[in-house]
Order: sequence, then C-alpha cells, then structure tokens
Amino acid sequence: MEKYIIHHTDALHGHVRISGAKNAALPILAACLLTEEPCEITNVPPLTDVFHMSELLQEAGCFASYDEKTETLSVCAKEITSDLSESEQAGKMRASFLVAGPLLARCLHTFVPLPGGCRIGTRPIDLHLKGLQALGAKHKTEHGIVELHAKQLKGASIYLDFPSVGATENILLAAVLAKGRTVIENAAAEPEICDLADFLRKMGADISGDGTDTITVQGVSALYGASHSIIPDRMEAGTFMIAAAITGGDIILENVQEEHLKPVIAKLGECNVKTEKTAEGLRVYRKGRLKPLDIKTMPFPGFPTDLQAPFMSLLTLAKGTSVITETIFENRFLHAAELRRMGADIRTDSHCAVIEGVDELTGSKVHATDLRAGAALVLSALAAKGETEIGEIEHIARGYCHLEDKLRALGADIRKEESDE
Ligand code: EPZ
Repeated sequence: MEKYIIHHTDALHGHVRISGAKNAALPILAACLLTEEPCEITNVPPLTDVFHMSELLQEAGCFASYDEKTETLSVCAKEITSDLSESEQAGKMRASFLVAGPLLARCLHTFVPLPGGCRIGTRPIDLHLKGLQALGAKHKTEHGIVELHAKQLKGASIYLDFPSVGATENILLAAVLAKGRTVIENAAAEPEICDLADFLRKMGADISGDGTDTITVQGVSALYGASHSIIPDRMEAGTFMIAAAITGGDIILENVQEEHLKPVIAKLGECNVKTEKTAEGLRVYRKGRLKPLDIKTMPFPGFPTDLQAPFMSLLTLAKGTSVITETIFENRFLHAAELRRMGADIRTDSHCAVIEGVDELTGSKVHATDLRAGAALVLSALAAKGETEIGEIEHIARGYCHLEDKLRALGADIRKEESDE
C-alpha cells in the first residue's frame, strides 16, 4: 500500500496535458470483442482500471498489449471464450460488466461475474439486463455469475428508467450486431457515449442520435477492426481546474475539449474562478475570493457526479454556505468525514451536504475511500496548512495517471511513499 505526503502549496502555475478518458477507454476496449480483426486504440491512459480491462480481455482469449510510450493498446479478439465464470479480473471493477453486451452479441451465450461491490452505491445492473433481455436474451444469476443467452439478438425499442451510462453502453454494444433496428429512449448522453459510438461507427456500426436522449442503431452482420484515439478525460481536466482554483494558481490545460466541461466552467465561474481559451489550451485562474454556491449533480449535460467530491474540497474554503445535492449515487459523501479531519465544516445526510466555508484547512492523516474522494483529499491537502498524509491511494491510481508528476510539474509539494499501515 502506498500513501501521498503533501505539503501546503501556493498558486500552482504552468501547463498540464490531460490524458485520455478512463470512462471512454473502458467501453471502447470492451467493444474490441465485437470483431475478429485487430483494433488499435491510442491516447489510452495508463490506469489500473484500464489494465484490469485489458487483463479481462486476455482472460476472454484476446491478444491485448499496451505500449506505455505511445499510450496505445492493441487488441485482437480472433479466438475468444465467452465463459468468464473463473475470471480473476471481473470482480475488481464495475466496468467489467461492459463485456457482457459484446460477448452476447458475438457468441449468443456468455457467463460474466456480477460486478464487485462499490462504496459509493449499490450500483445494480437491472437496466443493463432489461435492455439485453429486450434484444432477445434470457438471463439468470447463480453463484454471482450472470448467464446470458439468446437464439438471435433482434432490434427492439428500449426505455431506460434512468439514463444509465453503463446500461446505455452495454445495450449499444449488443444492438450493433442485432438483427434490425434498436431505439434506446432516455439514453445517457455523456461524451463517453459519443466516443464509444464514434469507435463503433469506425468498426462499421450504424448508430445515430448518440449525445441525445434517443439513440438509434441499425444492426449489421459483422464489424471490422478499427483505430481510434480516446477523447480527453473531462474528470481529470476538472480536477486540475479545481487544483488551480483551490491554490489560487493560474494554469493551462492542454488537450481538453471545452464543450465537455461546460457545467464545470459555469460553476467555477460562479465562484470567482475564470477560464479562458488560449492558443496553448484552456487557462484557469482564480480572480478574488472563492464564493459559495449550490451544486446539484445530474446526468450530462448537468454537473457531473464524478466532480462532486473535488468541488466539495473547493467549497470548504468559500466564505459562506454552499449546498451540494448528490442525485446520482446514494453514498457519495464518504470524503466529507475525511475533509472534516482537515478542519472542514460539512454536515451531510444521504443526498445533501451543507458546507460552511472556513478560513483555512490544516494538514492531517486521512484516507482515500474511493477514486474521486481521494482526488478531493489531494486538492484539500494542497491548500491545507502543514503536512497531509493520504493513505490507500491505490483508489486514486484507478482514475488519475502520473498524478504526482503532473502536480509537481505545476509546483506542488507532493511525494509518494510506502505506507506502514
Ligand atoms: C459510469 O458509471 C461511470 N463509470 C462513473 O464514473 C460515473 O459516476 C457514472 O457513470 C455516472 O456518470 C464508468 O463509465 C466506467 P450509471 P455507471 O449506470 O455506468 C443507477 C468514476 O469515478 N443504475 O450511469 O455505473 C446506479 O445505481 C466512476 O469514474 C441502476 O439503478 O453509472 C446509479 O445510482 C464512478 N440500474 C445511477 O444509475 C442500472 O442497471 C447511475 O449509474 C444501472 C445504473
């Protein structure tokens, strides 16, 4: 186990290149199962979740090899097995269930372990199964393994009770090879859905409406190998924007897509953090004292739940009262207790957090409870007086690559050490 040791850092300055998006890479890697031909995916971030997905593809019989220098992952699913009952990887990551749709589409019969538990919420897969069932699959779950099988997949009209990102992706990954037309209503519209659809179209799929709440797929008989570059990670970008804000710094983010960051740019603007498009990238800097504000997490294009924790860190230092309403997950305030150890004044109930701004945070021993909570603690540690030690930072490595190097290059006092716990 490792820990971060972080000391107070004034005003981050400089350039940071944002890596490829974890939440686009994972479904796109799963999509490689849909063809026997080789696929080459670039701008793939070296994250533990990406390596878990790559190992899961290998367990399914794929060739999968990652070149860290070029951040390219080459995948070929020529001969595959769709029985992943014995998989070591599947339980480690929720997104592993995204292989269910493509394996069902390719083999019409698959065994995939139920996704592992998660501290931010129960995260059921009922909408995934509802969609795959509508396409003609029968499913049963025994001993933690979901069995899916179908004589043939046929296009269908599917209404999602909630615009689930994963369910939209799994249904897309099956419908592309189903016979006939599929319409997904109340679909998720996140940029990562569009990136997956772009890759599937390069493979020969017929998809339209991605990025809206209604996606239409005309099934095709086969898909082919393709190359694709992953979109930038809007969550990493937002985290660095908040790092500039919380330290009173002025940084340039390279390789971002501004249209993916609209809610973050808007809310930062409301609390005196300016953003400016420049020839070198997106400039982010604080102008005056942080102002309190209210945030409600919503499906895209609303404010993203994955930046709720990092934004809470910022609001602990905004003079006045801020209210955060978390509408997506039922237990996504685990970071509040850790922030209180650093002097933050936060009261929470299941879906609502009330934050009273304080003049300063103080360094403390804290623990990352989950990926985005860990990022929030890093941000608070940069602003806190003195030294902060953050344990269980393996959670952070799931979604942020070279974090300490990128922060150090901006002037942060951060280092990684073996944890004695
Ligand atoms: C994706 O998770 C992301 N993960 C999450 O990012 C992100 O927080 C989430 O979307 C919401 O934007 C990846 O893309 C790998 P959902 P996913 O299905 O697909 C309920 C991060 O930090 N639901 O949109 O699992 C569910 O319980 C991670 O990078 C059902 O009820 O999210 C949750 O309350 C965390 N039934 C809500 O929908 C279902 O069948 C949103 O879940 C599916 C979901």
